[in-house]
Formats: sequence, structure tokens, C-alpha cells
Amino acid sequence: MVNHNLLGPGDYEAFQEYLQGVCGILLGRGKEYLVTSRLSGLMSTNGISSVGDLLRQVRAGRNQGLQVSIIDAMTTNETFWFRDASHFQMLSDMVFPDAVSKLGRPLRIWSSACSSGQEPYNISMTVQKYLSGNPGRLSGGVEILGTDISNQILEEAKKGIYCGLSASRGMDAEQQRRYFVAHGDCLEVRPDIRRRVSFRHQNITQNYALLGRFDVVFCRNVLIYFSAEKKADIIDRIARTLNPGGYLFLGSTESLAAHSDLFDMVRHGGGIAYRLR
Ligand SMILES: C[S@@+](CC[C@H](N)C(=O)[O-])C[C@H]1O[C@@H](n2cnc3c(N)ncnc32)[C@H](O)[C@@H]1O
Repeated sequence: MVNHNLLGPGDYEAFQEYLQGVCGILLGRGKEYLVTSRLSGLMSTNGISSVGDLLRQVRAGRNQGLQVSIIDAMTTNETFWFRDASHFQMLSDMVFPDAVSKLGRPLRIWSSACSSGQEPYNISMTVQKYLSGNPGRLSGGVEILGTDISNQILEEAKKGIYCGLSASRGMDAEQQRRYFVAHGDCLEVRPDIRRRVSFRHQNITQNYALLGRFDVVFCRNVLIYFSAEKKADIIDRIARTLNPGGYLFLGSTESLAAHSDLFDMVRHGGGIAYRLR
């Protein structure tokens, strides 16, 4: 239910502008309920009575944690195991065999909006399965970096422990046995899967030159939040972070369409990837 008391005149528009500025997320018209329902908890914890006051406090910079809490509250972290399964099949069928020639250095894969970690851990599980059928391949190793704007969700990702629905959604019993250690109702990602994966904070609307170059970038189910202009900017910058011939995976409902002529579309097994020209 919308708590209109939290939004004074002009507060919604000011919040839209603020959120787009700090993390690129574009809130359309009529999303007042989303703002009030997501922010009411953190506002009451901090004794703040309106969104206008919240913005004043965050801009005054007296409470450093406030901006992080707002971003945590406003981002949608929904994810599940082996989402868009064809992408993982494309890694095994196309990307890994192709990487055999790149001896002497690790294959680097970036999960750029990794949420609670399912996506980067799934990439590592796919590597594990590929190596069990193709021993000795990928001899330079594989490095998988998971990043997200939400610190809270990154903490969950780093723990690698999943309980209830988050342990089972998208994962069958055989995969659970193969890739996890069970602790009661919860599953912990096995050390041999975790060892390839590291996590760090990164806002994809900001400079990521420090992350280095990648052979594969997953940027799935996040571009949907951004304006067309911001989306095009992110895709151009991802292109600059990819090594020649590198692959970009987007969510199955997202497309590169008008945003870039830097890539060729590759179709395989019902999935789509974009290969840097
Ligand atoms: C819907 S989840 C998608 C997770 C995963 N990629 C998948 O496809 O299942 C979107 C994720 O994007 C993150 N996100 C939103 N804005 C971001 C930004 N500007 N930079 C990095 N991550 C962002 C959110 O915190 C959230 O974890």
C-alpha cells in the first residue's frame, strides 16, 4: 500500500533524479508505491519522516551509510540457479573449446550484476563439468569475478550458503549433490566451485577500468532498469573491457538491438550471445 505521508510535494520527482544519478536506475511514472514500500523500513530505522528529508540527509553527507542503504533497498535482486540455461551450454559448447588456444593465461569471466552469487557460481559449476569431460583443457585456469552495486547482496554471495527456495530454485537434486555441501535445510557451495570465484563492489554505470580485461561478460537482467542512453553507454564500455572476440551475454528478454554495432549476434542451442567484432 502507498504511504503517501512519506512523499511530500516534489519528493517523488527529486528521488527519481537522485536514483538515476547515483546508480542509473530509471523509475518511471507511477512507481510511488515502490519507493515508499522499499524505503519505509530504513526511514523508520533512521528516524526520517519523509523522502524529502531522506534526500536532504543523504546530500548533507552526514550519514555515509545512507546512500548504500537506499541502493540496497531500491535494487531488485531476483535471481535463480541456471537462469537462461542455454547461456551455460554456450560456454561449454563454444566459449571453452575456443579458449583452448589461449594458453598461458586464465580465461576471465565477469558477472557484472551478480546478485546473491548464483550466476558466477553457475559459471564455475559449468567450468567444473566441462573439465570433468575434457581433462587438461583450460590449462591457464578460469577466473570469475562477481560484482554488484548492492553491498548487502554481495555479502550473501560471498557466504555462498543458500537455504529454502534460494537453494532449490533452478537446481535439481543431482546438481545439489554435486556442487554443494548440505547443512540441514541449507546448501553451501563446495570449495572447488568457490575457488575460481571472487566478489567485489562495482556500479556498472561507473568506470571499471580497474577490473582489467575479460573474455566473457554476463550482464543479465539489469539493463532493463536503465534509460536507452545509459544502456548504450554501458554496452560501449563493456565492449572496451572485452578482449577481441570476447562474448557478452544479456538476459533472454534483453537485446543489443539499437545499442551497438560492435558485436555480431551468435545463436546456439536456443540461446543468444554477442561476440565482439
Ligand atoms: C534482477 S538481478 C539479476 C541477477 C543476475 N544477473 C540474473 O540474471 O539472475 C539485478 C541485479 O543488478 C544489480 N544492479 C542494479 N543496478 C546496478 C548497477 N548500477 N551496477 C551494478 N549492479 C546493479 C542489483 O543489485 C541486482 O542484484
